[in-house]
Amino acid sequence: MNKNKLVFANWKMNLNSNKVRLLVEGILSKLKPQDSVDVVLAPPLPYLGNVNAMILGSGIELSSQNVFWENDGPYTGEVSVKMLLDMGCSWAMIGHSERRQYLLETNEMINKKVLSSIKKGLKVILCVGESFEQRRRKKTFESIADQLYRGLRGVSEDLIPQIVIGYEPIWVIGSGEAASVNDISSVHNFISDELKSMFPSAKLLPRIVYGGSVNTDNISQISKLHNVDGVLVGNASMDCDKFCDIVMKVVK
Ligand code: PGA
Repeated sequence: MNKNKLVFANWKMNLNSNKVRLLVEGILSKLKPQDSVDVVLAPPLPYLGNVNAMILGSGIELSSQNVFWENDGPYTGEVSVKMLLDMGCSWAMIGHSERRQYLLETNEMINKKVLSSIKKGLKVILCVGESFEQRRRKKTFESIADQLYRGLRGVSEDLIPQIVIGYEPIWVIGSGEAASVNDISSVHNFISDELKSMFPSAKLLPRIVYGGSVNTDNISQISKLHNVDGVLVGNASMDCDKFCDIVMKVVK
């Protein structure tokens, strides 16, 4: 893994096969391969195969929005690392706040998913973020540290380059308004310091990307902040023009 900037598109449970096709066609025709930016698409699970077939050879990478920690067996509805690799995924998104909230994913479950993924060669974007209530009670740093320590427990330093941290303050996700640059900066600096103390002899620490209402207006300001290695984009990533504009502004 490298220190390229990263732009990660999270389409969540949206679109359909036709819309996915049109969106990927649009992205492929507008975006020229970039040396300095990694672009990753995370479509809904049923469309992974379609997207994989379309992006082959383009330099764009494929991610799932979730993964299970066992290889195979009686785990109805779940998908293993092996299956995702087989479908052409090189990434898994783990611990998104919507999964923590609606699927009751715990840090322990998230940790098993992280370990299983990186050991088998999948790159991981581990999402962390504080709720509005935690921020109001000045528990932001405590909550982020807890998610980092418990989510990354047992990760060996040689596998660290496979991990990216996605910082997503929960209350700004989908709100249309990103966190302030000061808030983003202070949490990213905090995460960077925590990672340094967790993995003191790692040669390369995880990249840290920001997510939460990233759009074409705020991207330039956000992406040039120190310790911001890219962005995780939800709503704006489903609009071809907006998404490509975001990528191009990160390149600059
Ligand atoms: P948003 O979503 O850009 O729509 O706020 C980001 C995310 O949840 O990953």
